[in-house]
Amino acid sequence: MIWAAAILLVFVSRGDSEDYCYDEPQCDPYSWGDSFPLCHPLLELRHSPIDLDRRHMSRDPSLGPLHLEGFDQTQTGHWTLENDGHSVVLQVGSGMAVSGGGLPDTYHTVQLHFHWGGPATNGSEHTVDGRRYPMEMHIVNMKSIHPNMSAALDDPTGLAVLGFLVDVVYADNVHFGHISQKLSSVAHKGQRTKVKPFPLLGLLPTRNMSQYYRYHGSLTTPPCSQAVVWTVYQVPVYISWSQLAQFTSQIFSTEEDAEQVTPLHNNFRHVHPASGRAVTASGDAGVLLGTAAPPLGGATALLRLLPTATLGAITFRL
Ligand SMILES: *[C@@H]1O[C@H](CO)[C@@H](O)[C@H](O)[C@H]1NC(C)=O
Ligand SMILES: *[C@@H]1O[C@H](CO)[C@@H](O)[C@H](O)[C@H]1NC(C)=O
Ligand SMILES: *[C@@H]1O[C@H](CO)[C@@H](O)[C@H](O)[C@H]1NC(C)=O
Ligand SMILES: [Zn+2]
Repeated sequence: MIWAAAILLVFVSRGDSEDYCYDEPQCDPYSWGDSFPLCHPLLELRHSPIDLDRRHMSRDPSLGPLHLEGFDQTQTGHWTLENDGHSVVLQVGSGMAVSGGGLPDTYHTVQLHFHWGGPATNGSEHTVDGRRYPMEMHIVNMKSIHPNMSAALDDPTGLAVLGFLVDVVYADNVHFGHISQKLSSVAHKGQRTKVKPFPLLGLLPTRNMSQYYRYHGSLTTPPCSQAVVWTVYQVPVYISWSQLAQFTSQIFSTEEDAEQVTPLHNNFRHVHPASGRAVTASGDAGVLLGTAAPPLGGATALLRLLPTATLGAITFRL
């Protein structure tokens, strides 16, 4: 195991300079492991995303709502929206943090970004009972004790990512307009634009924030570091069909002067097996009861009984 880790580190530092892609003839998430060994599904067991299978979940009544500090305020300065060729990323500066809800520490909010499908396909990363939602928003938070992202990626609980499934209705989401109205300025890879800060709370579901699913996993993009405490909220965020279409039709994975412009579609990674990991429902979240008992093996049963905060370290060594 130690040797495997050492060898992986060597490969990872080599792979960092390479690029990756989603939906092209010779290149998709199944081949990321060639350049980014941590992404290889056979080598590691804590991959993300997963299917949130509500028949095979335990409930932890102690998991209450997270504390979202500064999310209801308008931060000073300016934020930056960027097309990095893989997503649209909003860098939100300082001033916001998440804690509580079973998280082992306080995490500073760094950025948020999106995963989507195509004109006729859904593109959330996590699925719920096998259902894929049209889109997913990730709010990335870094454990406050870490000075930089590479230090956080070396910590099994270095990041706390909040995942919000996005569903579609007929009415525009006015809060989402802060981002969707700026998308035309970042149509091409490498383009960025300033965004006036707005209260992030507006992007989140208005109710039921105590209902979420929790598990320990990885980045869903290379280098696929197994460093993420995932919180995926049960109740989706709603945006309009036309707001969704702005992502699926106006964003390109190619640079402005590229000979062939390629729309950025299906920028989600495939789901991975939970592989014996505990997937826990918060005290208020919905689980499906009355079906057959979950298949608890020895190690799995033990993990399910342990407090969530210790799971990272334990599953990491398995
Ligand atoms: C895609 O999303 C739509 C809208 O939420 C939903 O009705 C549909 O069932 C989803 N499709 C799949 C294959 O999950
Ligand atoms: C990140 O922080 C670690 C720990 O303090 C330090 O050793 C490393 O040099 C830093 N890396 C970068 C890229 O700044
Ligand atoms: C959200 O919470 C309310 C009560 O606060 C409840 O009636 C409703 O069913 C919840 N929604 C979902 C999707 O669970
Ligand atoms: Zn993401």
